[in-house]
Amino acid sequence: MSELLQKIPRHVAIIMDGNGRWAVQRGLARHRGHREGAKSVREVVRGCRSAGVQYLTLYAFSLANWARPKTEVTALMRLLVHFARREVAELREREISVGVIGRPEDLPPVTRRALQELIEKTSSGTRMRLSLALSYGGRNDIARAAREAAEQVRRGEITPEQIDEGWIRAHLSTGDLPDPDLVIRTGGEQRFSDFLAYESVYAEFFFSDLLWPQFNETSLIEAFQWYGTRERRFGKTSAQLQAEAEPSDSR
Ligand code: FPP
Repeated sequence: MSELLQKIPRHVAIIMDGNGRWAVQRGLARHRGHREGAKSVREVVRGCRSAGVQYLTLYAFSLANWARPKTEVTALMRLLVHFARREVAELREREISVGVIGRPEDLPPVTRRALQELIEKTSSGTRMRLSLALSYGGRNDIARAAREAAEQVRRGEITPEQIDEGWIRAHLSTGDLPDPDLVIRTGGEQRFSDFLAYESVYAEFFFSDLLWPQFNETSLIEAFQWYGTRERRFGKTSAQLQAEAEPSDSR
């Protein structure tokens, strides 16, 4: 796939929305939509890996999702266990390591254990990092970093002057991931929903009307093609970027 595309984002983050609607439209229970959505997860993981994406982060369960009906939450937690057990061999074979961002400590013990095992068994993977955002909330993540800063100041380990944007960034649960270059949201909504707000300040946003279970490798290529047309200026002007790109002959 990568030969078709000019520019591949290093870090892709996805808000996988629309599972519930996909199921309801077909007269099925909502959890069937999540199960179908897990197939799109597999396809997108493969697609990103073969395109040369280095980091893929999936919003699989938000802090706000705990308010959903208990049956749906339970089904999602079970689905994660199945995913962890079923995908481990392929992830290892493709040299993909798995990590979790958010608050994995909130998850039921059986889900936590299955994910921990997946993390350990894939830890040698160096080709791509798949991060699952679980019990994740961007504001909560920032608040936790702020609390950590306060505690380190109280213990005399750092001074207040040392707490800057970089310090906070490094102490988020995404501390070992680069900022996302491309954020994709499916399901027709155009909002952030508390996902990677601090990290996505210069990300490009691609919105798809497809429901997540309909999102496949072709949709991913479309998103990458669109990304390839974007000029990322990081606050600079277009002229400045062009000057920087030209070889310097001023000596
Ligand atoms: C949002 O759709 C989706 C979720 C809350 C869960 C996402 C989970 C999966 C895609 C499957 C499991 C994940 C992995 C990593 C195996 P929604 O239910 O809010 O959809 P709706 O807006 O149509 O109701």
